Amino acid sequence: MIKEMYTFEDFLRQPIGDRLPYYEKDERLYHIMISQQFSYPFLEKLFDTADLIKYITRKPNGIEFLTSLLKHKRAMLYFTQPSTRTFLSFLSACQIVGIHTGEVRDPTLSSEMKGESQEDGLRTFSSYFDLIIMRDSKAGFCEYMSYLLDLTGRSVPIINGGSGKDQHPTQALLDVYTLHRSFQERGGIPGKVYGFVGDLLRGRAVRSVIYLLTRYSNLEMFMIAPPRLQIAPDLEAHLKDHGVKVHKTDNLEEALPHVDSLYMTRVQDEYDLSGESEILDYSKFHLTIENINLMKDDAIVLHPLPRRHEIDPRLDSDPRAMYWRQLRNGMYIRAALLLYLFNMEHRLVDY
Ligand code: CP
Repeated sequence: MIKEMYTFEDFLRQPIGDRLPYYEKDERLYHIMISQQFSYPFLEKLFDTADLIKYITRKPNGIEFLTSLLKHKRAMLYFTQPSTRTFLSFLSACQIVGIHTGEVRDPTLSSEMKGESQEDGLRTFSSYFDLIIMRDSKAGFCEYMSYLLDLTGRSVPIINGGSGKDQHPTQALLDVYTLHRSFQERGGIPGKVYGFVGDLLRGRAVRSVIYLLTRYSNLEMFMIAPPRLQIAPDLEAHLKDHGVKVHKTDNLEEALPHVDSLYMTRVQDEYDLSGESEILDYSKFHLTIENINLMKDDAIVLHPLPRRHEIDPRLDSDPRAMYWRQLRNGMYIRAALLLYLFNMEHRLVDY
């Protein structure tokens, strides 16, 4: 935990490797902030926990058992940026493991309307709740709040449910969990070819899942995007450092036959400064009834959702379409993460 006083700017200037220990306590992850926190052994264990939760919830007495595990805990869901899946899957995950929840989604109904700062609001939540799960439009804000709360001595774990353009670490967990399950019978995640399509520059889900995938070896990636939305140089450098073979292209049809997994994304125009996305021809980056047949029969299609027109809805019944299963996996992996944070995952063997 933090021992010295830094300003937030000082804090963010520290190399990422130096910041990671601040998110740990007693040699376990405490705040969930960025994908680089998750080690390979952590992922393997979390995936096993999620598999067990999935299995146990099939029986009524299993559901009862799980809801008994954390019924003494309370979580605050503070989502000031729009969300359907992350909010609802965390809410459902809390219900699965018995955590009581409170929520603020519309700050106009909170004392922020009376001029209270978000910092004071979050400090208030930490007085009533054992955990804060939050989403905010400002990059780095979740990290900032974990830092501030640690300084108050009234810290509770914070989970980053998406912070501006920077990271969405629990989306990465559910994405990689879905890949792990999909490729379980085919040698696993290593050695596969991954395609990423769309707004690769501003998509926080893409950034987080790419960081997480570099925990695995022998990867090849196709980055398929309009030139102005190609992956950021720092992310490309990270892939190079990890020996990932990267191909950058704006030709989806040429890349499709090569990939084992295709990760589609929408244009992130909420981050436009002056409507620049409107002049893009994004239709070249759509998966359609025609071009999906260029893909291998056993490839899979992922999307963090929400979608606009990137995937024709008629493809939802194609066996390669994995995005609805992917979002359901989010509920189980988030329930597993909650058990981990409160050091209760070992209790599953009691069932
Ligand atoms: N994937 C994702 O973060 O979806 P929501 O924005 O609906 O939470």
